[in-house]
Amino acid sequence: MARTPLIAGNWKMNKGPEESVAFLEALLSQELPEAPDVLVCPPYISLPASAMILTGSSVLLGAQSVHWEESGAFTGEIAASMLTELGVEWAIVGHSERRALFGESDASTSQRAAAAQAAGLVAVYCLGETLEQREQGQTMQVLEQQVSAARDLNPTRLVVAYEPVWAIGTGLNATPDQAQEAHAFLRQRLATLFSDEAAAKIRILYGGSLKPSNAHDLLRLSDVDGGLIGGASLDVQSFSDIIRAAADCAAGA
Ligand code: 13P
Repeated sequence: MARTPLIAGNWKMNKGPEESVAFLEALLSQELPEAPDVLVCPPYISLPASAMILTGSSVLLGAQSVHWEESGAFTGEIAASMLTELGVEWAIVGHSERRALFGESDASTSQRAAAAQAAGLVAVYCLGETLEQREQGQTMQVLEQQVSAARDLNPTRLVVAYEPVWAIGTGLNATPDQAQEAHAFLRQRLATLFSDEAAAKIRILYGGSLKPSNAHDLLRLSDVDGGLIGGASLDVQSFSDIIRAAADCAAGA
């Protein structure tokens, strides 16, 4: 099953509207390969300016979260319809920083993802174990529990991002063996939740200190279908180097 790789930049709380526009102009001026798909997820405040720059380009635009209600008294939150109104077609949900710092759970992550999908967005569903969980041998159990919360979602509008928490922003990436093991496990669980056919089509991204120097080793793995990139997505050169590495891997290089 050939899955088109996806290289996604999660800018986190970086780049206001001006900086976002400058970055995207520079990115669009690069000669980028046709595959992989490329997605950028700026902060909410930078989405309108980013949407304008990206109109007519092949670079996809996503938000970093989305609320499950349509409207109401939810200070600081954004509804899926507000995103689609801007032309945003993707939303990250359940990032480990949302889980660890803002109290989000498997239940709220699946609620956010369901609302995103109902509005026509693709949900980038994040999960991954902490260092303590890995050291205690609980990695697969944790992943099983997290991915199971996605059971009621629409698999055709779902991307899973495996982001081991200990690898995020630490410079310490999962080894290829660790990544392949986790991704293959997740795909097998997705097959149980949905079907073999659906699971074979779901893209599973790796995230956690993905950078040009390790991109090839990680992106060439059979169950790694791209990356969700934090730090290295903030720089046009390193982001486009990762995009090119994904293209090389897809071409079998
Ligand atoms: P880093 O690439 O900075 O480790 O962040 C990964 C991440 O959290 C992407 O969502």
